[in-house]
Amino acid sequence: MNVREAIEKRRTIRKFTQRKIDKAELHELIDCARLAAYGANLQPLKFRTITDENEVEKVFPHTKWAGYLKDGTPKVGERPTAYIAILGDSTIKKNEDFGVDAGAAITNMMLRATELNLATCWFGSIDRKELCKILDISENLRLIYILAVGEAAQESTICDMTDGDVKYFMDENGVLNVPKRSLEEIIIED
Ligand SMILES: Cc1cc2nc3c(=O)[nH]c(=O)nc-3n(C[C@H](O)[C@H](O)[C@H](O)COP(=O)(O)O)c2cc1C
Repeated sequence: MNVREAIEKRRTIRKFTQRKIDKAELHELIDCARLAAYGANLQPLKFRTITDENEVEKVFPHTKWAGYLKDGTPKVGERPTAYIAILGDSTIKKNEDFGVDAGAAITNMMLRATELNLATCWFGSIDRKELCKILDISENLRLIYILAVGEAAQESTICDMTDGDVKYFMDENGVLNVPKRSLEEIIIED
């Protein structure tokens, strides 16, 4: 799989098989985050893996799933078996502006996951306070995002956007469709 193919194949997945993801698989993704582009090369992020069954169960209620779908939250038996918490180290980046760095790191992890036939869901809608407590995150670290990692138990595909409608939807075959704007729409040329 080349990079272009991984970019096209990578989709947000919200139903997972129950295969346990081991730490070595997550460490391989984190190693790709390690090599990402970072502002001023500060590399201010830390990564906390979550694979323990008990802990995985405790994380789930503090993640919000698929705002555009009526029934987008995975049920028991469809939930992720592993997560990576992306943390910003305030002792390294004093202005605590971690969002773009985290985006670069997560993109590397998601593309490598795609190549390894793993599926991901990136979470911004999370209860950071509760999760920091559950994960016992130390005071100098800020929880930026959570990335769910697992094996896909649903299909997702891109489709052309109509009438500017950004809402992803489930089609009659149970395939998630994610509308993307056209190249013509997003390129500004004179
Ligand atoms: C910053 C950010 C935050 C996101 N937060 C959530 C979230 O809290 N819950 C969720 O189900 N999906 C979340 N997503 C996934 C997006 O909904 C998804 O990327 C988008 O619908 C496009 O689908 P695609 O990733 O398959 O291209 C987030 C994505 C990004 C980039």
